[in-house]
Amino acid sequence: MYILGIESSCDETAAAIVKDGRTLISNVISTSVQEQALYGGVVPEIASRRHAEYISATVQKALADAGMQPADVDAVAVTFAPGLIGAVLVGVNFAKGLAYGTGKPLVPVHHLRGHIAANYLTHPALKPPFLCLVASGGHSHIVEVADWCRYRVLGRTVDDAAGEAFDKVARTLGLPYPGGPSVAQAAKTGDPHAYKLPTPHVEGKYNVSFSGLKTAVMNEVHNAQQRGQEINVPDMAASFQERIAQILSKKLLAAAADTGATTICLAGGVAANGRLRQLVNDGAQKLGAKIYLPELKFCGDNAAMIAAQGYYEYLDGNLAGWDLNGLPTLAIDYR
Ligand code: KG4
Ligand code: ZN
Repeated sequence: MYILGIESSCDETAAAIVKDGRTLISNVISTSVQEQALYGGVVPEIASRRHAEYISATVQKALADAGMQPADVDAVAVTFAPGLIGAVLVGVNFAKGLAYGTGKPLVPVHHLRGHIAANYLTHPALKPPFLCLVASGGHSHIVEVADWCRYRVLGRTVDDAAGEAFDKVARTLGLPYPGGPSVAQAAKTGDPHAYKLPTPHVEGKYNVSFSGLKTAVMNEVHNAQQRGQEINVPDMAASFQERIAQILSKKLLAAAADTGATTICLAGGVAANGRLRQLVNDGAQKLGAKIYLPELKFCGDNAAMIAAQGYYEYLDGNLAGWDLNGLPTLAIDYR
């Protein structure tokens, strides 16, 4: 079964074709990130307008790369929540028009379920149940994936998402947006033990909190400025990355140990972080759990992950009507 996936929840306009939820046929991503970087973050209005401009050509290229016509796909899957609403609606309306015009089923896909499904594209052996840390620009969840479309949230951030913390710290350090890759790059030449940063206390065994950590970085920078000194950017980037990767990996591994999970995954933009991947990989091996990491090209927003999850949503009978709406927020375990 060939599913055309469409993704437009943030600043990537993406379309992809995936066979049976597992095999990538084509994958096209157009992005307004360079333009967004001028403003130090995503400006929703700009994102929506660029989606409207890019989406037809992006979908056409995904079809052309696969050597397919719209009539050749079996269903159209689209991110309908959560995300920047103006951005989400561009994809939803395009998918609706395409599905309506071709008479194909329309499959609504939750963006974070899509991030988790990015792992299915790389690892043919992976199937639920497993435990997954989903860490993106807007969310940080520790999720038990009980079945293809059944989830239980064990922990979450009580304030900033992990990616958001990377973005804010990058901005404080004068590093470009998006912050994750630029902090990781700066950290390469830094000493992760140079600055002592706190592990914020948080209620809930598997919950995380990053706002205190972000503030600690800001305070170090301001204190240095007041003393007429400069912060060592690589050292601070490395110290911050080390702390956040330690926090995330410890919580995930604690949840894995307590629930007896035998399979662990990472998902979302922050899953591209090398230090996080290393810590989770090492910890999983100590626990004797299997570890699956998404390929770097599937960590950030893309439509292949939406087509992959779309396949399982379709099999689960989750089809949308022509009144499908976009939603800015929606729990991953919605039914
Ligand atoms: O999943 P994603 O592409 O979009 C959302 O759904 O939000 O995640 C984007 C987030 C950004 O905050 C970005 O800074 C972060 O993922 N990110 C990283 C890395 N690459 C992207 N964070 C840490 N290390 C990275 N290598
Ligand atoms: Zn995302």
